[in-house]
Amino acid sequence: MKLVIALCSALLLSLSMAVSADPIVIKFSHVVAPDTPKGRAAEKFKQLAEEKTKGRVKVEVYPNSQLYKDREELEALQLGSVQMLAPSMAKFGPMGVREFELFDLPFIFPNSTALHRVMDGEVGKKLFAKLDTKGVTGLAFWDNGFKQMSSNRPMHNVADFKGLKMRIQSSKVLDAQMKALGAIPQVMAFSEVYSALQQGVVDGTENPVSNFYTQKMNEVQKHMTMSNHGYLGYAVVTNKKFWDELPADIRSALTAAMNEATVFERDIAQQENDDALEKVRAAKTTEVYVLPESERAAWVKALLPVHAEFESVIGKDLIQSAYDAAVQVEKAQQPVSKKKK
Ligand code: LMR
Repeated sequence: MKLVIALCSALLLSLSMAVSADPIVIKFSHVVAPDTPKGRAAEKFKQLAEEKTKGRVKVEVYPNSQLYKDREELEALQLGSVQMLAPSMAKFGPMGVREFELFDLPFIFPNSTALHRVMDGEVGKKLFAKLDTKGVTGLAFWDNGFKQMSSNRPMHNVADFKGLKMRIQSSKVLDAQMKALGAIPQVMAFSEVYSALQQGVVDGTENPVSNFYTQKMNEVQKHMTMSNHGYLGYAVVTNKKFWDELPADIRSALTAAMNEATVFERDIAQQENDDALEKVRAAKTTEVYVLPESERAAWVKALLPVHAEFESVIGKDLIQSAYDAAVQVEKAQQPVSKKKK
């Protein structure tokens, strides 16, 4: 009898060890290619998270909408079917957090320094607090970069957009932006854009060059205008319940991994877009037009009214924070002699 009891407790012990040795699995789903700023940073996070938790956490990265498309992925996160995502800011509107659309406003950030001031400051905190109420915890903001326009028609003047069917992400600001240009916006999941362009379901789209090239959109778009008219960036998010219930030491190791991955991500984003632009040029399938200042002014004039149109949705204070950041950065960048005046 004693032997049976001893055997049983040994068995129980080894079973419980086997259970506790099972790693915590984080499914990290995203919609872009692995060789993009977001794709590479997700892999970096995986490596750092596994290292820092000594294998107690296993991160499975699913790129290219393999698991979920745009809208589905946020629902899956709320349901706990995936644990981590990095949707673009434009994707949070349909969840009911419209303030994220601040980042979609055309020509609001003159450069990434002003942009980072806003997302890393009070505005970023406010946005994450809003997510909390939806069962979602914000972990970091990642960059892609400034967006460019593409279609099968040259786009130099605002009039060139007239009647163009343009694919947009699910953001009301982007809808208004395309309408202000005279185009016809059409919301569509990222994974469907290539074939929609190929089949002529839409005529054009907007994205940073890294997304454009890695989805092979250059094969189906004859023209791209380097307009830098808006920004595309990401909020890395997790399921709040999952995050809150993690052992504290695991949570702090994951936070450290995320912080390092974020530095890495912001470091490579611009370079990834520059490299992609070189590849687009080398492929010679898309003519690249760099919008000169003289023509840009007319785009700005057509698009600025979109800011006022969304004051009540996004919040006047949030929009003002972006304006203030732009002024502060411009001042800081001025030579000393000019600053004194
Ligand atoms: C898009 O849908 O165009 C982008 O948000 C894709 C992405 O995640 O970069």
